[in-house]
Amino acid sequence: MELAKKLCNAYGPSGREDKIRKMIESEIGNSCQRMEVDRLGNLIAYVPAKSKDGVKEEKNTRIMFCAHMDEIGLIVTHIDKKGFLRFANIGGLSLERIVNQRIIFENGTMGFIGVETKPETPKPPRIDHLFIDISAQDRKEAEDKVSIGDIASFYQQAVIINNRMTSKALDDRIGCYCLIETMKLLKENKNDLYFVFSVQEEVGLRGARTGAYAIAPDYAIAVDVTVTGDTPECRKMDVGLGKGPAIKVKDAMFLASPIVKNKLVAYAKETDTAYQLEILERGTTDAAVVQIIKEGVLSGVLSIPTRYVHSTNEMCDLGDVEGTIKLLLSVCEKGLS
Ligand code: CO
Ligand code: ZN
Repeated sequence: MELAKKLCNAYGPSGREDKIRKMIESEIGNSCQRMEVDRLGNLIAYVPAKSKDGVKEEKNTRIMFCAHMDEIGLIVTHIDKKGFLRFANIGGLSLERIVNQRIIFENGTMGFIGVETKPETPKPPRIDHLFIDISAQDRKEAEDKVSIGDIASFYQQAVIINNRMTSKALDDRIGCYCLIETMKLLKENKNDLYFVFSVQEEVGLRGARTGAYAIAPDYAIAVDVTVTGDTPECRKMDVGLGKGPAIKVKDAMFLASPIVKNKLVAYAKETDTAYQLEILERGTTDAAVVQIIKEGVLSGVLSIPTRYVHSTNEMCDLGDVEGTIKLLLSVCEKGLS
């Protein structure tokens, strides 16, 4: 799991995915026929259909897999006289979860998120009650390190305890990890495969849109995290850690293709892989835009159940990660039609 930890620890908020993309490129170079980076920054790797004896089995059916490289972050909007920074969100920040957390800018400048302590400060605070302290003495010193428009990610080191991984940015580096491992383990594949490591999911599913448009796949599967209903007094949801990958049925912007969903269920049963069915009432992922590209794409999602999504301590179960890779391999080997 060293690779998963490395991916999570690295800096890569939306629009600033370069470091993540370089890491992935160096991992998958030997596992695909070619790789390209599109204008938006998506990394697209192509693996043509191949059987063990080298004969191409089926022509022209394309499956696209997608996991997003970006993570949520903060963008500097103002630097005050005393050198404190004000910021806006990049993606869906959960404000009560980010207070007192450490952040890091692309140039390595580190900071800490503080909150105003006036008695009338609301709880949870609004974003305009929060600031970043980068240990500067004044504006001049702050401006030497940070400019308006600079983007920070959270700073947190991944740990594995009791077969569960806790980290920032599991959303969706753990999905990237699943695609990378699938590519490395792949021995034969029935269809032409496109592995898309997408940009800017957290700000509106933007990379997946251009990636899918270029590929025009017949089928697509996005791999991302989903929230769970297994912590004290949380919203009811029938997804929990350690019960297998979640096969999505519906989320706020997406209805899975029954063909794809049923295939995933069938492969889980055939391979004795535990699985759960997911209905996510709030939130969505790349498949929501992929499925409406051009004349439409039969799409599904494999989700890694994750607690505390969009915090600096997201948590997933490594057995669920293993199950996800196993199902992805079944899809590659046997196709979706
Ligand atoms: Co997210
Ligand atoms: Zn995500």
